[in-house]
Amino acid sequence: MRQNNKRPAACLFPALLVGVFHVAAANADDATVALGKQVAFDSGKGNCLACHMIPGGESPGNIGPPLLAMSARFPERAVLRAQVSDATVRNPDSIMLPFGKHHVLSEQELDAVVDFLYTL
Ligand code: HEC
Repeated sequence: MRQNNKRPAACLFPALLVGVFHVAAANADDATVALGKQVAFDSGKGNCLACHMIPGGESPGNIGPPLLAMSARFPERAVLRAQVSDATVRNPDSIMLPFGKHHVLSEQELDAVVDFLYTL
C-alpha cells in the first residue's frame, strides 16, 4: 500500500521536467526567429527583401525566387545555411551577396535567419 502511494509523485516529476524544458526551448526559438526576421528585413543587414518576396515583408524585389515553403524545398538545414552564407558555391555567378563569407552577417545572425526561413 505504501509503495502504491509513492508511484504517482514519481511519475509526475519527469513530466514536470519535460514541461519546463519545453517552455524554455519554445521561448528561445521565438526570440531567435524574431531576430532572424529582423536581420532579413533590415536594409542595413540582410536586406533580403531587395531581391526576394518574403511573406510579411513590404515592397519586395523579384530578382531572386520567392522565399516560400522552405522546409519542403530545403529539407537539409546545412544546404539552406550554405546558400545564405555563400550563394556563389551553388552559382558562381550569383548576384546574391555571400553574407557569411563577407562577414555581412555574424554566425549567430546566419543561424537566426535560417531559423526564420524555416517558418516560411
Ligand atoms: C542582390 C539580390 C539578392 C539579395 C539581397 C538576396 N538574395 Fe537570395 N538569391 C538571389 C538570387 C538571384 C537567387 C537565385 C540563385 C542564385 O542566382 O544564386 C537567390 C537565391 C536564394 C535562395 C535559394 C532559393 C531557391 O529557391 O533556390 C535563398 C534561400 C536565398 N536566396 C535567401 C536569401 C536571404 C535569406 C537573403 C538575405 C539575408 C537573400 N537571399 C538576399 C538574390 C539575392
